[in-house]
Amino acid sequence: MIEVSSLSFSYPNTDVPVLADINLEFDQRTTAIIGQNGSGKTTFVKLLKGLLKASKGEIFIGDYDVSMKTAAELARQIGLVFQNPNDQIFKRTVLDEAMFGLLNIKMGKYTAEKLALEALEMVGLAGKTAMNPHDLSLSEKKLLCTASVVAMDTDIVIFDEPTIAQDEAGKKIISNIIKKLKRKQKLIITIIHDMDFVAENFERIIVFNQGTVILDGATREVFTRKEVLKEAKVELPGITQLANRLGFQNTVLTIEEFLQNYSK
Ligand SMILES: Nc1ncnc2c1ncn2[C@@H]1O[C@H](COP(=O)(O)OP(=O)(O)O)[C@@H](O)[C@H]1O
Ligand SMILES: [Mg+2]
Repeated sequence: MIEVSSLSFSYPNTDVPVLADINLEFDQRTTAIIGQNGSGKTTFVKLLKGLLKASKGEIFIGDYDVSMKTAAELARQIGLVFQNPNDQIFKRTVLDEAMFGLLNIKMGKYTAEKLALEALEMVGLAGKTAMNPHDLSLSEKKLLCTASVVAMDTDIVIFDEPTIAQDEAGKKIISNIIKKLKRKQKLIITIIHDMDFVAENFERIIVFNQGTVILDGATREVFTRKEVLKEAKVELPGITQLANRLGFQNTVLTIEEFLQNYSK
């Protein structure tokens, strides 16, 4: 559905390449993009969303080159929840914020309000519709931005660090949203640092390191490549580390798998 070929990027007025020759295809597998700070993950998803223009290479969504699409076309097709909610929020009430994208794609006010309320309900903010978003906590702001994007019902949904500032309840909300989007056959791409969350929620992992892809594969496969991950300064999920230390042969991803192996 998304095909990236020979993609390179530098920010204006720098000659340091932030991304160098990225080749990737995205399919219906829930995909986590991991890697240390500054490895180019956010820049990459901004390119997918058409917010930045590639220095070299191409991005195709279906049969269409992203660089040829209008902002309005991309808005209907790709949703991106920003890493920092303060970069995304600019309306005066929670409800207006959740409706903004929908009104912007010319949806009627009645339908937009209905969809926005459904999305706010999903993230637990239905009781705060009249509040000023800037009075919300950081975790609530992040959930509001998530609701605004999910309400758009785009085929592609990208989350940039969705679990930042979330406690267990917040993480559960995000996890349920990912499951729901997966059931609706959306393409889900998520930049994330929480490896326990990755192990439990994603089918595929792409590892970025200094602007290149150094690993790409099924979650279990990637978490088996300890040496490469060390190079990219990526830690294994806690349960995987514990199983490794106990000398388990298999790469374990969840507590359930741990227990199955443990009782053998
Ligand atoms: N607006 C910008 N102008 C110049 N350099 C930037 C800008 N945004 C990010 N960078 C640089 O690009 C590199 C990759 O950043 P980023 O894509 O945010 O990485 P990540 O999301 O993996 O932490 C970093 O070295 C960062 O300092
Ligand atoms: Mg980032």
